[in-house]
Amino acid sequence: MSTPALPPGVVSLADYEGLAQQHLSDATWAWLAGGAADEHTVRANTQAWAQWRLWPRVMQPLAGGHTRRTLLGRTLAHPLMLAPVALHRAVHADGELGVACAASAQQAGLVLSTQASTPLESVAQAIRNDADRGPLWMQMYLQHDRGFNTEFVRRIEAAGYEALVLTVDAPCSGVRDRERRAGPAAPPGVSAVNLQGLRMPEAQALPPGGSALFDGLLRHAPTWDDIAWLQGLTHLPILLKGVLHPADAQQAQSMGLAGVIVSNHGGRTLDTAVSTAWALPQVVDAVGPDWPVLVDGGIRRGTDVFKALALGAHAVLIGRPYLHGLAVAGALGVAHVIRLLRDELEIAMALNGCRTLSDIRRAHLVPGPRA
Ligand code: FNR
Repeated sequence: MSTPALPPGVVSLADYEGLAQQHLSDATWAWLAGGAADEHTVRANTQAWAQWRLWPRVMQPLAGGHTRRTLLGRTLAHPLMLAPVALHRAVHADGELGVACAASAQQAGLVLSTQASTPLESVAQAIRNDADRGPLWMQMYLQHDRGFNTEFVRRIEAAGYEALVLTVDAPCSGVRDRERRAGPAAPPGVSAVNLQGLRMPEAQALPPGGSALFDGLLRHAPTWDDIAWLQGLTHLPILLKGVLHPADAQQAQSMGLAGVIVSNHGGRTLDTAVSTAWALPQVVDAVGPDWPVLVDGGIRRGTDVFKALALGAHAVLIGRPYLHGLAVAGALGVAHVIRLLRDELEIAMALNGCRTLSDIRRAHLVPGPRA
C-alpha cells in the first residue's frame, strides 16, 4: 500500500473534493460526482443541511465531553460511518483495503459495497480483529437468484460482518446522463469481484406490447415478501438503505428489522427525490427516537452531522467525501477526511453547548429546508 503525504493546505472536505478531480479521469469523475438526470437531488442534499440554522446555547458545562454512542449493542467512539460505494480501486490502488484500514484507524464504521473491487473476505480479514474499529457491515442487493443470495449471505456471515445493509432504492439504475456521456468509469481489471458467479436471468420474449423494463429486469425486483425470506435466512441484523418515506420505515420496523438508512443514494437514482435532511425528521417521528435511523446524502461538515443527530439520526454516513480523500492521498486521505469531520463535529457540539450526543436536540435547529 502506498503512503503519500497529505497535500498541504487541505483543511476541509470541500478542499479534498476540489483536488480529487485532478487525480481522476473525466469518466471516473463523472461517475463519482454525478447523479441522476439533472442532478437536482445531488444539489438539494447538500443545500438542505445548510438551510437548517443552528440555535446555540452558551456557557453550558463542556468538560469531559465526548462523541460516544451505542448502536446495535456496540459502543462507538463517534457516529461517523463510511457509506457503501462501489469500486474503490477505480479511484486509487489502495482500494477497499486502504479504506477499511483508514476507517478502523479512525474508529469509523464501514459498510462495504456489494460492488466492491476487493473480495469481501479480504476486507473483513484486514480489520476484523482491530480492537478499536467501528462497526463492520456489508451492503447487498437482493438478486433474482435466491441460490446466489443464500451463498452470498453465508460468505458475509463467515467473514465476520456484523450486519446486513439491504439497499432498496435501486431496483433499476437511475437516468445517469453524466455517466452515459462520459463512458466507462473503471479501468481494465477493476470490477465487482464479489458478484462473480451471478448469472443474469434468462432472457424471455416480451409479451406483445410489453416493457423491456417491467417485463424484463423488474420481473425479479425484490418486494417486502423477500425481506421476510432474508430474515429467515440469517441472524444478522438487517437494515434497509434507501428509505425516504415514513410509511416504509414503519413497515421495516413492524417487520422486526434492525433499522433504516434514510438515503436517496446520493441523488443517483431518482432525480428530484426529496433531500435526506427533509425526510429524516419525518421518518424519525414515525418510528420513534429509539429505533435505529441513520442518514446519508450531502453531509460535508461537522455542523451537518450535528444537524442530522439533532433531527434524530443515530449515526451518519458519508459517501463521496471519503472517495475524494482516497483519490487525493489513498488510505491516509480517507483517514484525514474522517478526522476532519469528527473534529468539526466536536467543535459544533462545543459551540452549541452540547457535551455529549444526547445533549443534541431538535431545539438546536430552526426549521428551514424545503424538500
Ligand atoms: C454510491 N452509493 C452506493 N450505495 C449502495 O448501496 N451501494 C453501492 O454500491 C453504491 N455505490 C455508489 C457509488 C458511488 C460512486 C457513489 C457516489 C455512491 C450510494 C452511497 O452509499 C451513499 O448513499 C451516497 O454516496 C451518500 O451521499 P454522499 O455522501 O455521496 O453525498
